[in-house]
Amino acid sequence: MADTGTLHDAFIDELRDTYDAEKQLTKALPKLAKAATNAKLRTAFETHLQETQGQIARLEQVFQSLDEPVRGKHCDGIAGIIEEGKSVMEEDFDETTMDACLIASGQRAEHYEMAAYGTLVAWAQAMGHSQAAKLLQQTLDEEKAADKKLSGLAEGGINQGAADAAHADEDEDEEPVGAASGAGKSAAKSRRR
Ligand SMILES: [Fe+2]
Ligand SMILES: [Fe+2]
Repeated sequence: MADTGTLHDAFIDELRDTYDAEKQLTKALPKLAKAATNAKLRTAFETHLQETQGQIARLEQVFQSLDEPVRGKHCDGIAGIIEEGKSVMEEDFDETTMDACLIASGQRAEHYEMAAYGTLVAWAQAMGHSQAAKLLQQTLDEEKAADKKLSGLAEGGINQGAADAAHADEDEDEEPVGAASGAGKSAAKSRRR
């Protein structure tokens, strides 16, 4: 290895970081699944746990394709995201709100992974590590699909269900939405804060 670090060194470092992040996620995803009430959301977390195990195996293939030992390096970024997710799970939210929050936590992790794999694919391509690039792209596609699935669940009813529950009491004494003036709307908004 050269005295001065190169992009190849940074690439291996990033691979180790990501390998550790995936391992941390295999411990966090079962907790998200367990905390979910919505059956589709629970299944989504369980399915992504299986995918994550495959992603770990795929990263091992990447290390092998580069003749590098399989090694992880503690990923502080994902540890922080998981820690925040744990704090949310300790909150006393109603079931649908908790599901909306679990999606938010899950999507933070997916976006972090998408950033990591996006960089890894680009660096592998730039350095001509085509086998590694191909494997990493497969995982990037899975992370994007997982993120999209979570958005679909949030926007397909969970967010609205949580929003309806949040404003259930207020609807009784509020004017119908169509009849509310601009000023009335902002007054209603400020009450909700
Ligand atoms: Fe992953
Ligand atoms: Fe993921």
